[in-house]
Amino acid sequence: MKIYIINGPNLNMLGVREPDKYGSTSYADVVNMIDGHCKSLGVTPVFYQSNHEGDLVDKIQEAYFEGASGIVINPGAYTHTSIALLDAVSATRLPTVEIHISNVEEREDFRQVSYIRAACIKTITGHGVSGYNEAVDFLVNYLKEEK
Ligand code: DQA
Repeated sequence: MKIYIINGPNLNMLGVREPDKYGSTSYADVVNMIDGHCKSLGVTPVFYQSNHEGDLVDKIQEAYFEGASGIVINPGAYTHTSIALLDAVSATRLPTVEIHISNVEEREDFRQVSYIRAACIKTITGHGVSGYNEAVDFLVNYLKEEK
């Protein structure tokens, strides 16, 4: 089973950016953590991070064309602005879990909107970077039950 783990803008800056909100683990270490977790579940992860909206749309479409079973996505700030990412997930109809490291519900008003959420099977917020592993667990269990 192959799943795409997609991260949006500024998530390559993990460990550097606002550690009070996003923790001190680097993006590379987060990838290693998720990779180990996926392997322990017998799942093959495909990692991608971009600061560019259209590239994220392309990667969501690629997940579909490459026969992925599902997607875990942290769209970063595009969560709150991007109908294109919502449409991409809707188009693929791949089970998708939205994850945010910080507790967006307790932050600014402009973070209270998530366009992509309407197309997602689950949203995880505020559990730090371990939320990625929770997202993988949820997706894998969902896919097993779906069969
Ligand atoms: C984020 C929350 C977003 O509001 C923010 O723009 C990010 C990171 C999170 O993981 O908590 O870039 O998605």
